[in-house]
This record gives sequence, C-alpha cells and structure tokens, in this order.
Amino acid sequence: MRTGTRISKQKQLFLKLIPMTESVNKHEEFLPVTRKKWICKKKIAKTHKHILDNKCLAEDFQSFKNKFIVKLNKQCNDMSTCDYFAQAIKVLEQSLREINTEAQNIEKVICFGLGPFTRHVQALHQLVFVICVQRLYKVKECLYFDPIFNETERKILHELNCFVMSENCEAKYEVEQPTLFYMPHCPGPLTNNLLWCNWEPKKLQNVILINNSFESITSNQPERILRTDLSYILDIQPYVKEFIIEDDYELQSIFNDLSVHAFPRFNLPPPDSDFWQKKDAPVYTDDSILTLNFATLKL
Ligand SMILES: C[S@@+](CC[C@H](N)C(=O)[O-])C[C@H]1O[C@@H](n2cnc3c(N)ncnc32)[C@H](O)[C@@H]1O
Repeated sequence: MRTGTRISKQKQLFLKLIPMTESVNKHEEFLPVTRKKWICKKKIAKTHKHILDNKCLAEDFQSFKNKFIVKLNKQCNDMSTCDYFAQAIKVLEQSLREINTEAQNIEKVICFGLGPFTRHVQALHQLVFVICVQRLYKVKECLYFDPIFNETERKILHELNCFVMSENCEAKYEVEQPTLFYMPHCPGPLTNNLLWCNWEPKKLQNVILINNSFESITSNQPERILRTDLSYILDIQPYVKEFIIEDDYELQSIFNDLSVHAFPRFNLPPPDSDFWQKKDAPVYTDDSILTLNFATLKL
C-alpha cells in the first residue's frame, strides 16, 4: 500500500480539477450535455471516486496501523513476562559478560531478514521479541532491513522509533560499538557478509549475533559447500562463543535453533595473524539469495 505518496499526488490533481468541476456545474443548467462534456464529467466522477478510495485507504491504513500497534504492545507485555524471554535475556547477559563491554550494554540493534511481520506470524513474534530487547536495554538506535517489507511495515517500524535502511547492504555492516544483530533464520550468506565486513578483532568483538546456531550450520553441511559459500562462518567457528537459547516458546518454528554468538577478544587469533587477512567481498554461487527475488520465492 503506497497510499502516502499516491494520496498527495491525487490531492494535487484534485485541487487542479476543482475550477473545472465548478465551471461544468455552473453551465450545465443552460447547455445541453454534449458527448465530449459527458465523457469529461464521467472522467471527473471517476477521479473523485479514486480520491475517495484513496481517502478510505488512508483511513484504513491509519486504523490498521493503530490496531496493529495496540496488538503489538499487548504481545510485548506477554513476551516480556514469558519464560522464553527470561531465559533468552539470561543467555544474552552471559554473552555480554564474555565480551566484557564496559557497561555490559547494547548500543545498537540491527535486524536483518525479519520477514513480512504484518503478513507472517513467525516474523511478528520475532519482531515482538526484538522490540522487547530494545526496550529492556533502552537502545536508542535500532535499524531494520528486509527487502520484503512493504510500505505499511516500513511505516509501522518508523512509528516504533525504528529506522528502516533504504538500501540493501546485504548485511555488510561495520560496527564500532557493541551491537546486537538479530537475524533469525536468515540466509547464511548474510551472516557470512556480516563477518567479512567486521573481519578484525577490534570490530568483531562488538558483534553480538542472534541467529541460527553456527554449530548446526557447520555440522550439518559438507565442508566443501561451506568453504564455497560460508567460509567466514567456517573459519570463525573454532573461536566463537555460542550460547544456545532453549526454545520453549508457546509456538513452534519461530525461535528454534537460535543461539547468541559472541566473539570475545581473548578467544580470537591475535590481530597481526594472517587469519585476519582482508579479502575481496564474498561472491555466492546463488546471488538471488540476497535479493527480493529470493524473498518473494521463499516465503
Ligand atoms: C527464511 S526468511 C526468514 C524470515 C523470518 N525471520 C522467519 O524466521 O521466518 C529469510 C528472510 O531474509 C530476507 N532477506 C533476503 N535478502 C536479504 C537482505 N539482503 N537483507 C536483509 N534481509 C534479507 C528475506 O526477505 C526473508 O524475509
């Protein structure tokens, strides 16, 4: 629904059309309606209908957005008091202690690949979770990106004080302060890109990542495939500290197989090691995995 921009264009058109409508009305008592005028009136009537339709859409959108946010806040209350959340926070705290951030705080939250949360129940519960984390840690900077978001979803996120990135950075996002990346069930190449982009101890130690367990990713696929497409996940696997978040959530297939991954500096190879040699950005056998194409096909 791109009602916002369409309405303003239609409004401009409407204002331009008013004098014409009036002049038609003024003379219609005296002049017979010719076919040309009849067509013109019909066109105007259609435009009016369109404007009204758009107005309804705008009102529908406002009421949908308001209802959605009320529902989301209620779900946030439920989430923040449920066992799953308590346990996930305990695990997150443990990982923050490992990386030894000064105030053991999270400065930024970045969420990639959440999915279409107004149309997809899994994504909705994941949004509720990450919003609760943001509120608990009073995180001011929260950024989201998923090529599948529609205008409604972008506006709702904006309403929730979350910034939606305008460009697809394919998770090549560099960090300098403790940042929580929430990427539940995201395509592996996104995680691989994130690691590539922060491939030095100084940066990597600021990455706290919640996504599918590295342990399961690396043990469930042949090394040959991992080496081709997920080499950064494969290489960092011996040095990552992984904390499993037990999935006892009331609904299944939402938070399954997720872990917090931390990269404490003392656990990583020394900064001058060849291990950190910077290479070109990864290229994937199937690039569509990082595009809208993939997003549309897989959901
Ligand atoms: C398997 S779905 C997971 C959706 C949801 N989080 C879930 O658990 O059901 C992968 C998501 O990654 C998104 N995605 C694909 N390319 C992306 C990119 N370049 N940046 C961010 N998200 C992307 C897709 O649109 C899709 O929503």
